Amino acid sequence: MGSYLITGGTVVTATDTVTADVFIDGEQIAAILAPGSLLGAGLQREGVPVISADGCYVLPGGVDPHTHFEAEGQSVPVLDTFATGTRAAALGGTTTVIDFAYARPGERPAQGLDWYHSKADGQCAVDYGFHMMLTNCDEETVADVDQLMDRGVTSFKLYTAYTGTLYSTDDVILRMLQHSRRSGALMMLHAENGPAIDVLREQAVEAGQTEPRYHARTRPAALEAEAVHRVTRLAEVAGAPVYIVHLSSAEGLGEVVRARARGVRVLAETCPQYLFLDEDRLALPGFEGAGFVCSPPLRAKEDQEALWKGLSDRHLQNVATDHCPFCRDQRLPGVDDFRNIPNGLPGVEHRLEQVFHGGVAGGKISLNRWVEICSTAPAKIFGLYPRKGTLAPGADADVVIFDPHAGHVVSAKTHHMNVDYSVYEGQALSGAVRTVLLRGKVVVDDGRYTGASGDGRFLARGASITEP
Ligand code: URP
Ligand code: ZN
Ligand code: ZN
Repeated sequence: MGSYLITGGTVVTATDTVTADVFIDGEQIAAILAPGSLLGAGLQREGVPVISADGCYVLPGGVDPHTHFEAEGQSVPVLDTFATGTRAAALGGTTTVIDFAYARPGERPAQGLDWYHSKADGQCAVDYGFHMMLTNCDEETVADVDQLMDRGVTSFKLYTAYTGTLYSTDDVILRMLQHSRRSGALMMLHAENGPAIDVLREQAVEAGQTEPRYHARTRPAALEAEAVHRVTRLAEVAGAPVYIVHLSSAEGLGEVVRARARGVRVLAETCPQYLFLDEDRLALPGFEGAGFVCSPPLRAKEDQEALWKGLSDRHLQNVATDHCPFCRDQRLPGVDDFRNIPNGLPGVEHRLEQVFHGGVAGGKISLNRWVEICSTAPAKIFGLYPRKGTLAPGADADVVIFDPHAGHVVSAKTHHMNVDYSVYEGQALSGAVRTVLLRGKVVVDDGRYTGASGDGRFLARGASITEP
């Protein structure tokens, strides 16, 4: 591992925008100084390579806290492995991912973590951590939560949806929130009312309404809002923070805003699919509609506006991808019955560029808020800050050089995710990730991948900062 000097760029963090040089020594950032001052100190003569960032932004590597690589929990496996998925992440400027580990039936969470380490260790192109999915609150599970905290897994996902598999009743959720208050773990909630959705699904199928668009009709925003309301009230009773994953609707956001006004520490993420795609996609003919099935489902255009406003008003903290891709063949069996379509969309590659495009170039958020949403806030919330999420002396040298003028068009023909279609096919983006460093190693050079599987290291995470 050598040294680098990044010159000529505009350094952007969550708080500052400055013309500066960035000096990297080994795996960390050594200094951020006035332009030219390091060159003046003779570094060039000592042979330190210079990376020009002329006309570009220089920002901390992205942190995507919601991926599902190699997940096997649905009817068919997710095709992106830790190797392929994290490579695509790197190409899009994301240098840290946090994936959802889970235990197979009959196994305990601690065994699930062993299993996930066996899949990911030595394979990843970027640094990685794990959340753990939970489904109950018995003594063994609680003991496992404590053990997992010692192993660097400090956040846990519970579900109010998917009855019969992942679903947790309110008593389980309350107990785990109470435990999290004591232990410092962060509970993450998938908030949709599962039992009510089951009723609507059954009624739709009885009425012969089985096309993909009924996936969305049977999961209305009101049932997201109801679940957000319930879990934020449970968090209030427990005196614990709570993190809502993949928030999709204006109604759900309204419940977040109301809970925050009551003083509840509710944090929430939304995803690119809820910012850019709407429910009309599900009505496309044949396979096309099936390609847009995820849960919560895509919503109306007005919801997109509300979510952008939530990001700008700081009621939403993060944009995460919920990357969970299934290819055409895997989705086809569900074209005539939406219940057979695996849930989830691809997206880990484009998040940074999309939030820049829709947010900064679209005039909705500032440059600093872009960095905060895509890097700093998730690093803080998931116990990685200040090692990740910022550019400062001592931080890991995870650096993105972003060209705001290098527009490009998203296509399955050119993307790097292991999936044969793109939900964003044809989306023209206004900027592009040019160069990426992971702990001081150039892993993307002028848009070309130069890293290797195994560059990424497991991140044992610390406690959350829940007021980022
Ligand atoms: O449809 C989705 N979001 N699939 C991934 C699993 C989840 O609930 O996050
Ligand atoms: Zn979920
Ligand atoms: Zn997910």
